[in-house]
Amino acid sequence: MADFHRLIGKWYRLNKRDLPWRSTNNPYFIWLSEIILQQTRVSQGLNYYLKFIQNYPTVFDLADASENDVLNNWQGLGYYSRARNLHATAKIIAIELNGVFPSTYEEIKKLKGVGDYTAAAISSFAFDLPHSVVDGNVYRVLSRVFNIDLPIDSTEGKKYFAQLAQELLPVNAAAIHNQAIMEMGAVQCLPSNPLCDTCPLNDICLSRSLGNYNERPIKSKKIKTRNRFFHFMIFLDEGKIILEKRVDNDIWQHLYQFPLIETDKDVSSLDIEAKILDLYALKPFDFSENVTHILSHQKIVAKFYYFNKTPNPIASSFIKIKYESIQDFPLPRLIDRFLGENKIVFK
Ligand code: ADE
Repeated sequence: MADFHRLIGKWYRLNKRDLPWRSTNNPYFIWLSEIILQQTRVSQGLNYYLKFIQNYPTVFDLADASENDVLNNWQGLGYYSRARNLHATAKIIAIELNGVFPSTYEEIKKLKGVGDYTAAAISSFAFDLPHSVVDGNVYRVLSRVFNIDLPIDSTEGKKYFAQLAQELLPVNAAAIHNQAIMEMGAVQCLPSNPLCDTCPLNDICLSRSLGNYNERPIKSKKIKTRNRFFHFMIFLDEGKIILEKRVDNDIWQHLYQFPLIETDKDVSSLDIEAKILDLYALKPFDFSENVTHILSHQKIVAKFYYFNKTPNPIASSFIKIKYESIQDFPLPRLIDRFLGENKIVFK
């Protein structure tokens, strides 16, 4: 046990990546980095982190921003409820807590969007409190080094890994230990082809000696992917275009999209055109190829239909904007990517 900390601690000091949130103990910055890194890898998260701390250098700046502004800065990261939670939490800290970030594990965990992992990360990195982090990297490292075959998505498994991680944590070096074990998982103990030859734990790693590291960690369930088919209407008229804000409790909440017909089967374009005629009394002059977009448990197949008119009257949920101003609206990555790759022509 003591070996474990000594080995990863030494390795970390020599090999750690120089990441900006590691050279601060400002809890606001650390919280921002952790919420961003819940959503993406370090390489992509880095730019978002720099953008957020530049645009919102204090929790008051984030609290004072408009929701659209925050969503625009978040654009491309996906899972927009995280950005809305981030904004709501900044307001609570700024207004109810007078800008003072909570400084105990229990208080930090009460913040919206903060679970066990994030509370442990913030309380250890910002306040050096002895709470062990358990994320996907930690599950992988521990399941291999200690050859644990309990499923990480079972109640029993979660409890076991949490206890083990806590036992391994030296109370006087929580921040370094937590960073080190996550860094091991991120750069050394890779999901496939782990770099065992150069690993500081190779002498004590049970899975390495048993040769079963490809079967660690164990997961019991396979989550099914849901297929969704999105048919977007690009209603263009004299440089104006129609957008609609997504309000339902679903993906992309509060982002803007083109008016949508959704189906759960792959319906032919002719059927969709009949439906469009029924709904809007309009016929598209063209439509795009299918565009596939993968989310964590959903596969979205989208098609874009082009019109040179807007419906009249327009639905109350629609807004008509100048096409040039479309980037002022937070858009789902699927739509942003489509616009980047396809020139919208005005007929
Ligand atoms: N992933 C989540 N938190 C991280 C951190 N603090 N450093 C590197 N990767 C991380």
